[in-house]
This record gives sequence, structure tokens and C-alpha cells, in this order.
Amino acid sequence: MDTEILSPDGSGYARAESVLRDGGLVSFPTETVYGLGADARQDRAVARIFEAKNRPTFNPLIVHVADVAATKRYVKWTDMADRLAAAFWPGPLTLVLPLRDDSGLSPLVTANLPTLAIRVPEHPVAQALLSEFDGPVAAPSANPSGKISPTRAQHVINGLSGRIEAVVDGGECGVGVESTILGLFDEPTLLRPGGLPQEAIEAALGGPVVTRSEADPLTAPGQMLSHYAPGAAVRLNAVEIVEGERLLGFGKVEGATLNLSVAGDLTEAAANLFHHLHALDADGDAPIAVSPIPETGLGRAINDRLRRAAAPRDV
Ligand code: TXA
Ligand code: MG
Repeated sequence: MDTEILSPDGSGYARAESVLRDGGLVSFPTETVYGLGADARQDRAVARIFEAKNRPTFNPLIVHVADVAATKRYVKWTDMADRLAAAFWPGPLTLVLPLRDDSGLSPLVTANLPTLAIRVPEHPVAQALLSEFDGPVAAPSANPSGKISPTRAQHVINGLSGRIEAVVDGGECGVGVESTILGLFDEPTLLRPGGLPQEAIEAALGGPVVTRSEADPLTAPGQMLSHYAPGAAVRLNAVEIVEGERLLGFGKVEGATLNLSVAGDLTEAAANLFHHLHALDADGDAPIAVSPIPETGLGRAINDRLRRAAAPRDV
């Protein structure tokens, strides 16, 4: 199949809508990363997401909808959800809530869990596409399983061309790391650090969120240890480089091949992270050393992704 590149305009959205309606796959930009979308009500369409990405097991997917009202058709709503939605939607936050019995979603979306991960993205192209489609769109990041997430249409083409019907080219993603996933269980629980800092959530709730360790089975079930992996080996917290290494810098460091943010700005670093990893990946397999990144704000999401990029690959 030839993958069509669609422009973010009326005819592009109309084409994308008809591909989705017919059970096809359309990649589209969100403010975090490019997603690989399918109609979340069609089993075959959702199954094709796993096929195209080569996702080894049926990990649950995030459902994307255009507005808060639409989320209530799929999940059992709570007061805490209300507060978080008012503060942060549309935006880079995914909420995990109990699935409604009458959701009509394919069980593949939730991997048969009684909960659903759902979000309202802010990116104008995602918003336009979701409004045009007027239905739930299941969308993981649009990269082959285990590889670096895409923040530009070209990254999607490089990884999935010929395996998906279309990609809407909406330029670069502003945030650059995936959404923060918060489980609204007995206590609000951080399942994945992401584009919305934990500190912002705690400020909105007026209290702490619980964090889960990697070993805990309640952690986002699809969180593989090795993920976002470039071909080259990755070494973290490098204060100096070893002969033959390339340095992915942060802050004012000498000899960086690429720098996430010379100014030491975490927002800029998040936006550059996957793009720089793609660029280093395309440019040989000399090992990559990465400067230390502070474990605060967006730094938590950046370090989470880097730890996975550096993890052993033997899975
Ligand atoms: O920013 C994002 O969230 C991007 C864009 C495209 O929206 N999407 C994304 O999807 O990162 P994906 O599939 O790469 O990551 C989804 C994560 C997985 O780790 C999965 O295990 C977790 O969400 N997840 C999905 N449903 C869940 C559920 N019911 N309970 C707990 N975790 C869930
Ligand atoms: Mg992903």
C-alpha cells in the first residue's frame, strides 16, 4: 500500500475521515507526538494498529476524543476527573477511568481491562480531525514497536511507510514527549510521567499523586523497559565523553554532537528529545552519551524515556 501524505486542510481532513470510517489507519500530529489512529469501535481497524507497529502483545491503547463531553460516553466520570479536565484539557494528560459497559469500544482497545485511558488532545490538527470524524480514535504513538516516537511526519514515514493508509502532515509536535498518564483509582496514581509535569497535577489537586515503581503490576501495562531505542548504545548521566562516543548534550557542555537545550530549558529539551534521537540514529551507530538532566518537571518524562532508550534490548 502507498501511504498518502495529507495536508492539514478541509480536503485532507475529509480524506482522513473516510479512511478512518473504512477501518484504515491515519497518523496525525498531537501536541505530544504523532499518533497512529483507528476507529476505536472497529475490531479489525484496532487490530491493524498492532500489526502495523509490530506491537508484540495487545497493550491497551489511549482513546482520543474532541472534547470533555465526548469522554463521558466511554468512561464513568468522577469529580476528580472533572477538576483535572477543567484544568488541563485539551492538553497532554491521559486519564485512566472505569470503562462504561455500553462504551461500544472494541475490547482490543483496553486489552480487556475494566478501565480506559482517554484524552482530549490540544493540537489543532488533532482537534480538526477528531471533530470531522466525530467518534473515538484509538491511537498509540506512530512508531514501530520499541523504536523512537515520532515528532514529525517524516519520522512516521520513515518507520511506517507502506503499512498505513495516510499521515496528516501538521509539522513538528510542540511538547515532544507523550502525555502524562494518571490513573484515577482510590488515589490519583501517576502511571507514566509525560508532557504535563507531576507538579502541575499536584497543584491542581491540592495534594500529592501516588507514583508506582516499575515492578508494580498496576504501572501502565504497556511500559516496556526497552523502548525508544536507537540502533546505538545509550549511556546516561555522562559528565565527559569516552573516545568514539557522540554526546547528546544538555546545558552548556563542550563537544556535543547535538544539544537538547543549550540554555538548560526542560521544555525545549522535551521538544527536541525524539527528534535528536532520530537524527543520531540516522547518522551511524557510534554509542551515544547523554548529559545529566534534572529530575524535575518535564525532566522526569525526559529521563524516563532516556532510561528506556538505554535499557538492555534483549526482549
Ligand atoms: O501522548 C500520547 O499519549 C500519545 C499520543 C499519540 O496521544 N500516545 C501514546 O500511546 O503514547 P502509547 O500507546 O504509545 O502509550 C499508551 C500507554 C501504554 O503504556 C499503555 O500501557 C497505557 O498507555 N495504557 C493504555 N490503557 C491503559 C489502561 N487502561 N490502564 C493503564 N495504562 C493504560
Ligand atoms: Mg508509544
